[in-house]
Amino acid sequence: MKRVFSGVQPTGNIHIGNYLGALKQFVELQDENECIYCIVDEHAITVPQDPKELKKHILDVAALYMAIGIDPKKSIVFVQSSVSGHAELGWVLNCAANTGELFRMTPFKAKSQGKQSVGAGLLTYPVLMAADILLYDTDIVPVGNDQKQHIELTRDLAIRVNAKYGKDTFVVPDGRFMKSGARIMALDDPTSKMSKSAPNDHSRISLLDEPSKIKKSIMRATTDSDGIVKFDIENKPGVSNLLSIYSAFTGKTVEELEAEYDGHGYGDFKKDLVEVTVNALAPIKERYNEIRESQELIDALKDGAERADAIARKTMERVRDRFGLGL
Ligand code: AMP
Ligand code: TRP
Repeated sequence: MKRVFSGVQPTGNIHIGNYLGALKQFVELQDENECIYCIVDEHAITVPQDPKELKKHILDVAALYMAIGIDPKKSIVFVQSSVSGHAELGWVLNCAANTGELFRMTPFKAKSQGKQSVGAGLLTYPVLMAADILLYDTDIVPVGNDQKQHIELTRDLAIRVNAKYGKDTFVVPDGRFMKSGARIMALDDPTSKMSKSAPNDHSRISLLDEPSKIKKSIMRATTDSDGIVKFDIENKPGVSNLLSIYSAFTGKTVEELEAEYDGHGYGDFKKDLVEVTVNALAPIKERYNEIRESQELIDALKDGAERADAIARKTMERVRDRFGLGL
């Protein structure tokens, strides 16, 4: 059995990009692998957070995990800060990373925009992500395309530490990316990725959006004026993005969809996509509402933290020993 690890930040507005790029894979993988799914609250505080909101968002994401079909009996589901090994291994790996490679990370460059006043956590955050992964001897990391560079860094750090401290100190993990869905773009601007924080609510579809909101967001999504449903990222990024979403939700290939909508305008295509999206999200929302306030949710997270901690402790013992830390 392979070990799978991934995480999502508890920052509200979990959207169909998160779902089609990452979360959907979490469910697919859980039957055949040993899966560990984390709510990475320590990552969220790299930017200012309201403590009350953060606490709420942690449970929101946990409930969404369960609502999409993650079974806490099969998979370990827990909150990052409940297991101290993440921060501890994060420190050790910070001492193995170079500042240069961290300054080169695209998300850091985008978020800091050259300013020195941003939190140091924003710079060292990819190292904490590497710690999350390496702490569990992870083989596979299901994520969206935007995390490719972070996975590469994780691999580099593992290989570097193994070369110096012994080749089985860390398992070197692989990223896992979806064919359609790995990079869902914003509906109002198909040249930037769909994000939780974009000010325009119609740029994204959140997993708990009402059908009327989903309809509005899709019907007003940016397309082009030639009226042909065809995948062409360069010249038709808007329609291509909608095709990717349609394909990811239904399992139909882009070619099949192009054939199906040959001769139809964008109106028909978008109307059907609204239906597909609403139908895919309805059961998630229903299950979410059942579980969000339940004791079952809290119990699952507590149990998950204990199981995760047992694995993490073993890794940390090995790491301390290899690095010569402690008595
Ligand atoms: P985050 O919200 O940044 O914690 O991301 C959670 C997961 O969703 C990560 O695996 C991301 O790579 C993935 N993800 C975020 N945005 C998108 C997007 N627009 N398209 C596909 N995957 C995404
Ligand atoms: N950095 C990821 C993101 O922003 C979230 C994350 C943190 C993660 N630790 C992880 C993803 C470990 C996979 C594995 O989306």
